[in-house]
Amino acid sequence: MTETAGDTTTAEGRRFPPPPELAAHANVGPEVYEEAARDRLGFWAEAARRLTWTQDWDEVLDWSNPPFAKWFVGGKLNVAYNCVDRHVEDGHGDQVAYHWEGEPGDTRTITYAQLKDEVCKAANALLELGVQAGDRVAIYLPMIPEAVISMLACARIGAVHMVVFGGFSADALASRITDAGAVLVITSDGGYRRGAPSALKPAVDDAVDRTEGVRNVIVVKRTGEEVAWNEGRDLWWDDVVERQSTEHEPESFDAEHPLYIMYTSGTTAKPKGILHTSGGYLTQVAYTHWATFDLKADDDVFWTAADVGWVTGHSYIVYGPLANRATSVMYEGTPETPHRGRWWEIVEKYGVTILYTAPTVIRTFMKWGEDIPAKFDLSSLRVLGSVGEPINPEAWLWYHEHIGGGRCPIVDTWWQTETGAHMITPLPGVTTLKPGSAQRPFPGISAKVVDDEGNELEKDATGLLVLTEPWPSMLRTIWGDDDRYVETYWSRFGTSVYFAGDGAKVDEDGDIWLLGRVDDVMNVSGHRISTTEVESSLVGHATVAEAAVVGASDPTTGQGIVAFVILRGNVTEEEASGDELVQRLRTHVAKDIGPIAKPRQIMVVQELPKTRSGKIMRRLLRDIAENRDLGDVTTLTDSSVMDMIKDKLPAAPSED
Ligand code: PRX
Repeated sequence: MTETAGDTTTAEGRRFPPPPELAAHANVGPEVYEEAARDRLGFWAEAARRLTWTQDWDEVLDWSNPPFAKWFVGGKLNVAYNCVDRHVEDGHGDQVAYHWEGEPGDTRTITYAQLKDEVCKAANALLELGVQAGDRVAIYLPMIPEAVISMLACARIGAVHMVVFGGFSADALASRITDAGAVLVITSDGGYRRGAPSALKPAVDDAVDRTEGVRNVIVVKRTGEEVAWNEGRDLWWDDVVERQSTEHEPESFDAEHPLYIMYTSGTTAKPKGILHTSGGYLTQVAYTHWATFDLKADDDVFWTAADVGWVTGHSYIVYGPLANRATSVMYEGTPETPHRGRWWEIVEKYGVTILYTAPTVIRTFMKWGEDIPAKFDLSSLRVLGSVGEPINPEAWLWYHEHIGGGRCPIVDTWWQTETGAHMITPLPGVTTLKPGSAQRPFPGISAKVVDDEGNELEKDATGLLVLTEPWPSMLRTIWGDDDRYVETYWSRFGTSVYFAGDGAKVDEDGDIWLLGRVDDVMNVSGHRISTTEVESSLVGHATVAEAAVVGASDPTTGQGIVAFVILRGNVTEEEASGDELVQRLRTHVAKDIGPIAKPRQIMVVQELPKTRSGKIMRRLLRDIAENRDLGDVTTLTDSSVMDMIKDKLPAAPSED
């Protein structure tokens, strides 16, 4: 059987039926599964009708050239109009779109009418700067409203946004700008992180200097810190956006017009630009947001506690909630600033009813203790969500009891940057919950667990997760690389079966339990990082000859990055044995890729375990990093290598 990063299933046998009150008024009931199964395309067409189209489609799905899908062929719409204008036209202009909370405690309340004005101004500014439909715009911003406004302004004029998480390095930004061919960058002087201003503009200056094609950099003033200025290229947001008209006529775009590119780690060092398009994407993010969270636009206060720099932010801070006219909370900072109860203070302050976050954060809160959330009034909460990695039953139960007061269903949503929207999840008014399981494919989605040959496994078996039918919010390709798109996702079991890269178990009831990645992708705090990317950063350092990186299970972050390095001959023994070099290497990776990629541990070794064909045996390295029994090592070229490596194992990993 294929290796998986760790089995989260346990003997936890408790079951949680939907609260009767919620089930009685839920947006979707149990019949939705049958309806979707009876007429899958009809079901998605119905979901698409929740949006406003300026031209109807001729065909729901064109799958004549798999794996290149076209949804709602011939249909036209404007994504920003659907997210903003139509709600204002329907008389909801005064409804709050975002309660924004800055880390230092400053706040902004933005209604749908105000959002419409801001998006129109930003769209007019982009047009004035010569940005055209189809052009790519890079966005490198902290969690401030201008991030949302910029994304919608691009969508409004048909430009393709490419948001880069503010925690990524100048290098990472430069390679993404180059790959996407961005003509403009929107950034800020900085943002607030852990109580202090953290600069962003220097990374943009550095990145843009190393790339070609960026004509302008728009800079939002957030921290007021001094920034270097490139006259003629750089423009303050306040100068170029604020003076624009609040009127802008939205143009209609084809359903398959590109909406955004989001880079994600794959199994090679080069990140993949995942391309999402307009009509199908908006259909599925809006419908899943409405059904999975049971979103009631008039009553709920919805909070996805994630960064807009990730797909979770794109789909469930921006596009899904806005398409559904939700009132959302958006928070700039970290959970422990200025104190460890900050999130619960925010829930209490805004009366948050639906909270969506990642298991790694829940485990951190567990570590801090339940007495912290207990100090706040969390009684407004009614639905909780989880995303990003398998949630272990212990964290699930803690979340359920100490945050949800024992009354809120938890929707454990499995999906990916590539899938665009929820794919496997319970429904809060329908599903009897099993802690730790994502349970059933969403209505209209065909997810299966198969063995290595692609045969479906029906009950009580472990295998690989695949998606056997196209879905509206699926990625359309890897930007500029159709071959890699086919090869990565659609080659293992033929061109019409999507290989997700996750291991999964199907239990005796047919419910699905996700088991982690089966490829060389690590999941650290819900973020995907490729082992190869970290390895190539390490061998890029003057002291490293060879490197092997594995994701070892970690009680808080899910997986932690553990690197084994062989040093070059020019490194003295004294240097090699001290801690200083290891720390330097850790910092080097953090600078190269971003702080999220900083290895938890680096071990200096003389040799690496390899198969006879020269492939590094990561499973063994992972076992060492996790101190597991080694099992069969007979395929190693030299099994004494393992003893040598084990001797080098430090007692405890460093904390930061
Ligand atoms: O391994 C799965 C894990 O996260 C991967 C996708 O990562 P990314 O594209 O960064 O998107 C994260 C947010 C959607 C998947 O291949 N994953 C995501 N959600 C879950 C999960 N694993 C188990 N359970 C989940 N609910």
